[in-house]
Amino acid sequence: MMSFARVSINGIAITALICGLFASSDAFVSSNNSARRTSTSLHMTLLTAGGKKVEVPAGSPLKAACAKLGVKPKYSCNKGDCGSCTVSVGGSRIKACVGKVPPQPKLKSLQEKGLEVK
Ligand code: FES
Repeated sequence: MMSFARVSINGIAITALICGLFASSDAFVSSNNSARRTSTSLHMTLLTAGGKKVEVPAGSPLKAACAKLGVKPKYSCNKGDCGSCTVSVGGSRIKACVGKVPPQPKLKSLQEKGLEVK
């Protein structure tokens, strides 16, 4: 099958001959479904606390991750003002009420253990 496609760029008309090989709608779709899935998949972060491990999406609310882990910070203002809910995540201090789950560290040793939440 052959067909012509007419495209206009900045007023210049371009006519292209499209052969049957590329005319089907599947011609430019990748047949590799795994590549498509990885581009939309979330980056997960492994968190550990007291021997319990959970994998949560990086950038998700830390408050929900703490609840999943069983860590119970003391919430007071719930706005990030007082600091009473501050937890240590992999050595960084983050206010749990407004903080986000950090991305997984690049170091292999920390990846295997997960970020420890205290
Ligand atoms: S509850 Fe006050 S900073 Fe989180």
